[in-house]
Order: sequence, then C-alpha cells, then structure tokens
Amino acid sequence: MAGTAASEALGAQIRSEAAACGGVLPFVRFMELALYAPGLGYYERGRAVVGRGGDFYTSASVGPVFGELLAFRFARWQAEDDGPAGGASQIIEAGAHDGRLARDILAWLRIWRPALAGRIRYTLCEPSSVRRAWQAETLAGFSGQVDWISDIREARSGRGGIRGVVFANELLDAFAVHRLGWDAASGRWFEWGVEPVDEGFRWARVASGKSAVPEAAWPRLPGGLLDALPDGFTTEVCPAASAWWRDATDALDQGRLLTFDYGLRVEEFFLPQRAGGTLRGYQRHRSATDLLAGPGDQDLTSQVDFSALVAAGEQSGATTECFTSQRRWLTEAMAETLAPDAGFAAWDASRVRQFQTLTHPEHLGRAFSVLCQRKRVSQ
Ligand SMILES: C[S@@+](CC[C@H](N)C(=O)[O-])C[C@H]1O[C@@H](n2cnc3c(N)ncnc32)[C@H](O)[C@@H]1O
Repeated sequence: MAGTAASEALGAQIRSEAAACGGVLPFVRFMELALYAPGLGYYERGRAVVGRGGDFYTSASVGPVFGELLAFRFARWQAEDDGPAGGASQIIEAGAHDGRLARDILAWLRIWRPALAGRIRYTLCEPSSVRRAWQAETLAGFSGQVDWISDIREARSGRGGIRGVVFANELLDAFAVHRLGWDAASGRWFEWGVEPVDEGFRWARVASGKSAVPEAAWPRLPGGLLDALPDGFTTEVCPAASAWWRDATDALDQGRLLTFDYGLRVEEFFLPQRAGGTLRGYQRHRSATDLLAGPGDQDLTSQVDFSALVAAGEQSGATTECFTSQRRWLTEAMAETLAPDAGFAAWDASRVRQFQTLTHPEHLGRAFSVLCQRKRVSQ
C-alpha cells in the first residue's frame, strides 16, 4: 500500500476492524472509513479536493452560475408557494463541502431578491466539525442567516417541519454503498468485503451469516433476468441514500426536495455494460485502477439508484415533479431568466461559458440527473 501517512493510519484502523469481524470487513464499512473517518477520511482531509486543483469537478466548482440558477428557481418556488410577501422560508443544503454553493445562492438572493434574502434561513446539514469550519469561513458574510444541523432528522425536531427547499448537489453519490456479487451456481447474491493482505487490501466474500446488507436492500429482479445474469455480476446498493431521502421528505411540511447526482434507474444497473458495477475511484481527475489502494487518498463514488429515491419520497407523501437531465433542468431555468422582468444578471461571456460546461453532454450536462419531488401542506 503506497500511500500517505494519513492513509497508513487509516489502513491500520481498517485492519483492526477487519480482524474484529473475523478477517473480512464488509466493503460498505471500508468505504465509510475511507471517506469519512474523523481526521483521516478523504472528505475530512482538505477542502481542495473539488475543482481544478483537486480530484474532480462538481457543478458548484465550475463557477457561480449553478448557484445563481438554483437561487433563481428557489425564489420562484417560494413566490408561488407563499406569495410575494411570503412567510418565513428555509433552504436546507446537505453535503455543502466548503460552502461555496451556499455562498453563490445567498449572494445572488441578496442582490436580486433582497426581501426574500432578508427573511430566509439557510441551514447546512453537516455532520463533520471539520467541514462546518470550512463552511463557516466561506459564509462569514452571511453569518446572521446561516445555521447548522448534523442530521437531516434534526430539521424537524423542535422546529416544526420545513417550509422551503431541501437540496443537495452530489451528496448521495458520496454515500457508502454495499458492493454485491452474483453467484450463478447457487443462484444467490453475496456481499463483497475487504481483506487485509501484506501491505494492502484485496476483495473477499463476506460469509453469508456476517453480511451487513439489510434484508430489504438486496436486489429483487425478475426470474428471467436473474437466469441471464453472468456469474460474478457486480452491483451496488445504498440503503443509506434511500433512508436519507425518506428522512428529508419526512422533515418537509411544504416545498421541494431536489438532488443533482449521477445515477440510474434500477433496471439500468443490470445492463451487460455494468457487469463490473458502478463504483469508481478518482484522484487528480483520473479514474483509479485499484479502488482499495491508499484508503482516504482517493475519492470513492457510485451511481445513485434514482428509482429507490423516487419510491422513498413517494412513500413519505411527496409527488415527483421531475426526473430529468441536469442539461434540461438548467436549460429550462436559464430560459426563464431571459424573460423581460425575470430579474437575473446579464448573460456575459463568463456566465455563458459556465452554462455551457454545466449543460454540455461531454461535460456535466449528461452525466448528472435531477430529481425534484414536492410536498404540499395538505399531503
Ligand atoms: C462530492 S462532494 C459534493 C460537494 C458539494 N456539494 C459540491 O457541489 O461541490 C460530497 C459531500 O457530501 C458530504 N457528505 C457525505 N455524507 C454526508 C451526510 N450524511 N450529510 C451531509 N454531508 C455529507 C461529503 O463530506 C462531501 O463534502
């Protein structure tokens, strides 16, 4: 395992947890530690992992236009739901990382919708004290109207439900997943785990009695499809993402839930071209070859199961307003900004360039999907 000192320390922690589980640690726990172990995990180490100098781009790192278009839409929704005078309104952002998207949204509202900006509360849902500190620094100019919760379930407790928007950009594709393999001989799924070897780690099956996958999360495929599935077919399930979306829906009294992620409908996970699963590692804008190398040194991510999110939200009383590409969602929002009295900044060369990056199919436009669900007071 050639890695950094932090990765060596994290490796030692993973080895000790693997030993405590009889030698093989379920991959979901490996991924959780690799990304989020306090002080050592990938997302704990430095704020600069996102953007040109980091490991990958997000829409927020392209420039302020993404946040400006979100703020423009949020303001329209708020006016439609509450009327122009409005009541108290809330925006909850989860997975804000260094807070730049929050800053872009609040800055736009302050300039273009000052009345709304004056009464809006912006809450960041952030379990990590390290990332909260980055966010507080970025949002120093908005300190009076920003607050934090650690868990989306806290959004409800003691405050009543949320009226407004709960949203995230690339939160759920950063959740730890269970990695599953298909054993054609026995006609059963098994869970992949991680086993320490020499200086590194290798893939190993988790014994069926020790699997950490909740019963309801195992794939349920029609018999014909299972018969055709090749031995070793690999996929991922992420019950934590559906649980998060359900909790977010439950916390909302009125308004929208919105997420931007790369992801698939459930049936798309089982196409022949995805026989190796959708889990990927990224370092310095390159796809990693060994997902288990240098834990904490590389990002690990996998496609979101949007069918599971749609079902989770609808079971909690939301209706699905749209499931579409980022390209389409942003293009529609952009078209609205062109109306004569829209109240949006001029589309100068820099804004146009950012918009093209966000929507071009070979950049971020096709890779990302948008799910928007809505809850009304009567629901
Ligand atoms: C891929 S980054 C996206 C960053 C940011 N939204 C952007 O657009 O640049 C995913 C972020 O989600 C955070 N995250 C992961 N699990 C979380 C959770 N349960 N609640 C809040 N944030 C979480 C990670 O720490 C990381 O900062």
